[in-house]
Amino acid sequence: MKTALITGASSGIGKELARIHASKGGNIVLVARRGAELESLRSELEDKYNVEVAVFQQDLSQAGAAKNVYYFCKEKNIEIEYLMNNAGFGGHGNFVDRPLEKDIEMIHLNVQALVELSHLFLQDMKARKSGRILNTASTAGFLPGPLQATYFATKAFVVSFSRGISHELKPHGISVTALCPGPVKTEFEFAAGMGNSEMFKNGATAYSTALKGYNAMMKGKRICISDVGLNILIKFLLPIIPDSLLLRVIQKMQTI
Ligand SMILES: NC(=O)c1ccc[n+]([C@@H]2O[C@H](COP(=O)([O-])OP(=O)(O)OC[C@H]3O[C@@H](n4cnc5c(N)ncnc54)[C@H](OP(=O)(O)O)[C@@H]3O)[C@@H](O)[C@H]2O)c1
Repeated sequence: MKTALITGASSGIGKELARIHASKGGNIVLVARRGAELESLRSELEDKYNVEVAVFQQDLSQAGAAKNVYYFCKEKNIEIEYLMNNAGFGGHGNFVDRPLEKDIEMIHLNVQALVELSHLFLQDMKARKSGRILNTASTAGFLPGPLQATYFATKAFVVSFSRGISHELKPHGISVTALCPGPVKTEFEFAAGMGNSEMFKNGATAYSTALKGYNAMMKGKRICISDVGLNILIKFLLPIIPDSLLLRVIQKMQTI
């Protein structure tokens, strides 16, 4: 099993992706801001699965962050076969009333870092004619998002970008998968300022979501909508729901 790089590995879906990959005997590079959480996961995985785990503490919303991650791997001679762009956060409230810096930071993390990391690691994957990318998007990527407009738009970018490059990269032996979860019980709802909102009460577990995404990546699927109900809604109901009704329903769902 080859090496995976997982961003946002200090909690939630990313942490479970790391556990799943390690359980199959794969080495890992863990990336996030909280070094202590990453170190504790490193010990857990090395002890339990006898794999090699490297930790790189990095704020991916900062300029130059993706290059720092890439050159860390290069210096350590670590070849990344599986790139899992998972780090991301949301933010609740009317766009006009939110601090603009927070939404720009979100775009830097959810969009820019994902694009930069993909471009850097794809150079090596293309040369090797092998590799897989798993981008954690969201079912939000298929919807308009009143009260989380910027977040939904970042995930629409991730879905569209993943679909586009997946087609370009097919002839090069590289697959790209967008994992699109519905609500998942992680630290996300608190980071988004939606702590304990109704929407997350029946959310999926981080483990089940990560497992579906990991398996979809391994099968080379383009899109993985991990929530069965939302999968049906997006595929069959969305095309026939009037936009004004959709916007009202989503606004209600996002209200806390
Ligand atoms: N939970 C949901 O309902 C849900 C639904 C659909 C999609 N998603 C997506 O799933 C992905 C993972 O989220 P999650 O639910 O697992 O939430 P989470 O538990 O809050 O995990 C987010 C991860 O991203 C990392 N991160 C945040 N800001 C960062 C930064 N500036 N630089 C580097 N790493 C950063 C966090 O680590 P540090 O704080 O240590 O940096 C953490 O490891 C996100 O892209 C999210 O948008 C979540």
